[in-house]
Amino acid sequence: MKRLFTLLVLLAVAASCRERQVVIEDFESGNLDSWVVEGNAFVFCPKSGSDNPDVSGVKGNFFAASDFGEADASATFFGKMTSRSFVISKDYISFLIGGTGEGFAGRFVAMELLVDGKPVRSARPHGTDPNAMDWNSWDVRDLKGENANIRIRVDSLPSRMRIPLSRYILADQIIQSRKKMGTFNDMLTIPVTAREDYLLIPSSNSGSSSSLSILADGQNILGVAQNIVLAKDVKDYDIPVDISAWKGKTLEVVLTNVDDNDVTVKGLTQSDTRIEQYEEPYRPVYHFSPDFGWTNDPNGMVYFDGEYHLAYQANPYGTRHSNMHWGNAVSTDLIHWEDLPFIVAPDALGAIFSGSSVVDADNTAGFGANAIVGMYTSAGQGQRQSIAYSTDRGRTFTKYEGNPVLDDAEKQPNFRDPKVLRYGDKWVVCVAAGDVIAFYESADLKNWRKLSEFGRGIGSHAAVWECPDLLRFEVGGKEKWVLIVNINPGGPNGGSVGQYFIGNFDGERFVADPLPYPLWIDEGVDNYAGVTFSGTGDRHIFMGWMSNWLYSGSTPTLRFRNAMTLPRDLSLKHNGKHLFLASSPSPEVYAARVSSRTVDASLRNGRISVPEILPDNDGAYEIDFTVAPGKSPLSLRLYNGKGEEMLFTFDFKALTLTLDRSRSGVVDFHKDFAKKDILTHLVKRPEYKVQLFVDRHSTEMFIGDGDVCFTNCMYPTEVYNALELAGADAGISDLTIFNLK
Ligand code: FRU
Repeated sequence: MKRLFTLLVLLAVAASCRERQVVIEDFESGNLDSWVVEGNAFVFCPKSGSDNPDVSGVKGNFFAASDFGEADASATFFGKMTSRSFVISKDYISFLIGGTGEGFAGRFVAMELLVDGKPVRSARPHGTDPNAMDWNSWDVRDLKGENANIRIRVDSLPSRMRIPLSRYILADQIIQSRKKMGTFNDMLTIPVTAREDYLLIPSSNSGSSSSLSILADGQNILGVAQNIVLAKDVKDYDIPVDISAWKGKTLEVVLTNVDDNDVTVKGLTQSDTRIEQYEEPYRPVYHFSPDFGWTNDPNGMVYFDGEYHLAYQANPYGTRHSNMHWGNAVSTDLIHWEDLPFIVAPDALGAIFSGSSVVDADNTAGFGANAIVGMYTSAGQGQRQSIAYSTDRGRTFTKYEGNPVLDDAEKQPNFRDPKVLRYGDKWVVCVAAGDVIAFYESADLKNWRKLSEFGRGIGSHAAVWECPDLLRFEVGGKEKWVLIVNINPGGPNGGSVGQYFIGNFDGERFVADPLPYPLWIDEGVDNYAGVTFSGTGDRHIFMGWMSNWLYSGSTPTLRFRNAMTLPRDLSLKHNGKHLFLASSPSPEVYAARVSSRTVDASLRNGRISVPEILPDNDGAYEIDFTVAPGKSPLSLRLYNGKGEEMLFTFDFKALTLTLDRSRSGVVDFHKDFAKKDILTHLVKRPEYKVQLFVDRHSTEMFIGDGDVCFTNCMYPTEVYNALELAGADAGISDLTIFNLK
């Protein structure tokens, strides 16, 4: 009797288990007769497990697979297979999925759920082993009762992709289930009640991308979904998201490509403090770096009402280039910056790329007299120029509802980085358009008319042009104009660099003087995308991004990545042959000097040794001296007790200065970092004033009141606290060391 009862119970359990799962397709028929197959990718499908012993996770014998092929061959496969329709009757649709999911290839394969022919759910292979199939489930509670189809696709590669990618997809056991199968989720919603000011999202410095949305009443408070790197097994830091406006409310944190066991899922916390830890070994002391996250170009630089505004290309959700926003920092002295909440966030027109700001004193745009108007590139499907304005001294910006205001996207895929200036009673904007600069004029910052283009056949065209600036100077009572154009790659020492042209601008077109172009603003490897502040009258204050696109994404910092250069005053000087653009440290920089000491500059055995640069050396200092050139080269070595060094060599005969940073500390994060021969050129002078600014991970050398500036980063594992100057016959004087804060 007892046995009979157990048997009945077991049968009942088995029946209910069966009911819990409805098979949509298990491919065990060995054919695709009930599927619509298009293209050539699924011609030999289904495949059998016995013929493909490398594939693991197969249920039964057959599974669906696009053709694997070698990379070259697989580039020519594409197509899709679509199931017959079925009614969604359970909470989940689950399936086994595999294939190439990591990196770029993952974008070109997908399994989708279609309702009315449109994809409503999508899954990509998520494992690290492409031949291992693994469970994935879609939560379809909201779609119950709908007629649906499954579609499995392999897309063709865009023609511009020169490297053929091996891309394929595997699938099996597509079922409707009451429960989720496995722990991986294409999309996971976690309810969180906002109690403190910031939601802290555990993140990692490396790994593949997921997306983050935070919904309040169905609206994404982040504007659009943001790319983040989840903390899978280990957290490197928390991403702080301001949720203070929603206190007491339950928000839905929506993550994609996430496993239930990821540290991020278990570790969401809240805090009233935004930045858990600001200090880290390479955090600059007297240069701007974002409190948290990634930065590249300086943007929207404008002086207004006693404050310098530095918007900057920012990713507030991680330390790599993604989700571009305009971050916002303010300073009254160009040295001490307060990092404020970001001011412009991505929207339906795209990410917020570089641009500039002006003060609209006469209310030409109608946003109010003295509104700060920022013009930036909306980088979405095509690049267009948009504007946003602030009437609260740059603390918050409102996007103009008529955006974009300048749209040539059809003609030009690379059309970006607008730099606006006032010319007489009109506005002029220079925009990088492919590898030339296009000029437009406007009366109101909203309606623009094209004036001219500059650049064909002159200067460096090693890549598209970016981040222009147009500056007016007076030289000997005459007007001269300088057009700055950034270019990446193409730098004389590799990667990113700023070039410039000297000439005339008549309000319509720029004409360059015949000079030996390309001319470089800074031949060091870490000064890019630099432009000047507007609103400073005849003074041209320049700041650049202190990194290089070659390796900026892998520099060994943790919670922030990359910083800006020191502010520099630009002027036009003569080198004996022609005018050139000189950069000297802006005088405001000297406010960072907190103490100084003069060092005995007499050579002993051809050397000056300073075994201790500063007693409590925090890595932030300035070394100044004057050198009267001798016949032999002069070397300047900054070093630490670990055998790490930055070695500069002046050759006064060849008029060159080289830097060897191959032993400067951590150099293995990118093959292009450890360079021996970063080269710049000296101007012939009877003596040279040298200023070397060091700030934890950067060096900026200025020579001869702006003749040369040379910006190069380094990542020593211990502060360089020793200096050696060696050159048998160089006359060194006025050797002074300043502690900077
Ligand atoms: C230059 C640049 C710009 C662009 C921005 C995107 O570094 O490529 O041309 O607007 O970065 O972040």
